[in-house]
Amino acid sequence: MVESEDFKSKITVYVVVCWILAAFGGLMFGYDIGISGGVTAMDDFLIKFFPEVYKRKLHAREDNYCKYDNQILQLFTSSLYLAALFASFVASKVCTKFGRKPTILVASSFFLAGAGISSGALNIWMLIIGRILLGIGVGFGNEAVPLFLSEIAPVQHRGAVNILFQLFVTIGIFLANLVNYGTAKLHPHGWRVSLALAGVPAIFLFIGSIVITETPTSLIERGNEVAGHKALKKIRGVEDVNAEYEQIKLASDIARQVKHPFKELMKRSSMPPLIIGVLLQVFQQFTGINAIMFYAPVLFQTVGFKNDASLLSSVITGTVNVLSTLVSIYAVDKVGRRKLLLQACVQMFISQSTIGGMLLVHLKATSNTLTTTQAGFVVFLVCLFVMAFAWSWGPLGWLIPSETFPLETRTAGFAFAVSSNMFFTFLIAQAFLSMMCHMRGYIFFFFAGWILVMGLFALFLLPETKGVPIDVMVERVWKKHPVWKRFMDD
Ligand code: BGC
Repeated sequence: MVESEDFKSKITVYVVVCWILAAFGGLMFGYDIGISGGVTAMDDFLIKFFPEVYKRKLHAREDNYCKYDNQILQLFTSSLYLAALFASFVASKVCTKFGRKPTILVASSFFLAGAGISSGALNIWMLIIGRILLGIGVGFGNEAVPLFLSEIAPVQHRGAVNILFQLFVTIGIFLANLVNYGTAKLHPHGWRVSLALAGVPAIFLFIGSIVITETPTSLIERGNEVAGHKALKKIRGVEDVNAEYEQIKLASDIARQVKHPFKELMKRSSMPPLIIGVLLQVFQQFTGINAIMFYAPVLFQTVGFKNDASLLSSVITGTVNVLSTLVSIYAVDKVGRRKLLLQACVQMFISQSTIGGMLLVHLKATSNTLTTTQAGFVVFLVCLFVMAFAWSWGPLGWLIPSETFPLETRTAGFAFAVSSNMFFTFLIAQAFLSMMCHMRGYIFFFFAGWILVMGLFALFLLPETKGVPIDVMVERVWKKHPVWKRFMDD
């Protein structure tokens, strides 16, 4: 069998440009995640679209945990994820039939349209249609970009290259927080500026989708073997790419025999990567990360910060998110995936349960808010939580599903992973404010419980994939794992 050590490669300027341009898909996703929390906390926005919520906010003293609970307000945030869920399956087909590159082009076009319509919205429905178009962009982008990055990365750096996607997600969230911090002071149209600026990364992604190469894997799988060989030489920066070419060719020959990838995915032997891919994404959401990401400004107002201070606090968590992702880029191909996930479970469990404890003891529904010191401590705990997520379940939730499927089920399997992420992101976006209203501080114990479950999952069921070439996972990983080997036919 061909060993990864036989694959030769240099890192060329062109390949780095391809990585970065494609990663702009992550920036779009991150910007969309980060922008809605701040926008829904802006008075001008609430007065125009959600006057009821605005009235309730004025009487915030009524109930600390319930002032923002409104289903339509939550639908504004979550409609994007529902659209992305369905779009990722269509994107999977486009990815297989036409390639990763055109799928990224489609993503950027939807992003541009979505940014235009939502920022120009005259009524709630235009607002939601804009979010849906952005969501379709996310479905296409999140399907194609992680696969693209995993396929064009040299095996020994695959983790780091793939995590560029997540790095750009965190930069997108961070920029969105900064933008909101500025536009909150622009009356009455600050929120429009926030939503319109999503067009900027969309333009970069659009240009990127023209400049980047198609992945050799996708070219070869679609029968363009000469072009695939040429693309491989170009991205590896060396003449002798035969060992790797042969491996991709072999995988493509097998893949081409499979006419119905989704049917193939339902076979017993496809279950291991499917179960792992879906569960990683579900668990990623049940850490509670998006309760923090979408609603950080709302959450910080709940514990007693004023409007500005709460946006500033989300800028702090945004910075922690970006910097900690760099740790993951550095560590993932050295210490491996499993250790990062397990360490993070411990850290996230401690932070979520302590936040829960603090709120239960100190934040009563109708009386006082936290003291400044107590609120500062909550921000610190949130940072501790975000830090752990950012070097583990955040990036690896995308990396592992993009590297563990064999080529014949890769785009279909990854679509299940993406759509699971979207479904549970939707669920949390839709439910969090109501859950906080009903469960109060207990909601953080709910997340802590899940973190315990996912720690056990990582410990017993997750194989290590560091350093294994993407097209030999079945032989080298699944057929060797004590539990999963039982699913694999010869
Ligand atoms: C998750 C998002 C989350 C983000 C935070 C991503 O990996 O999929 O739901 O908001 O990380 O950085």
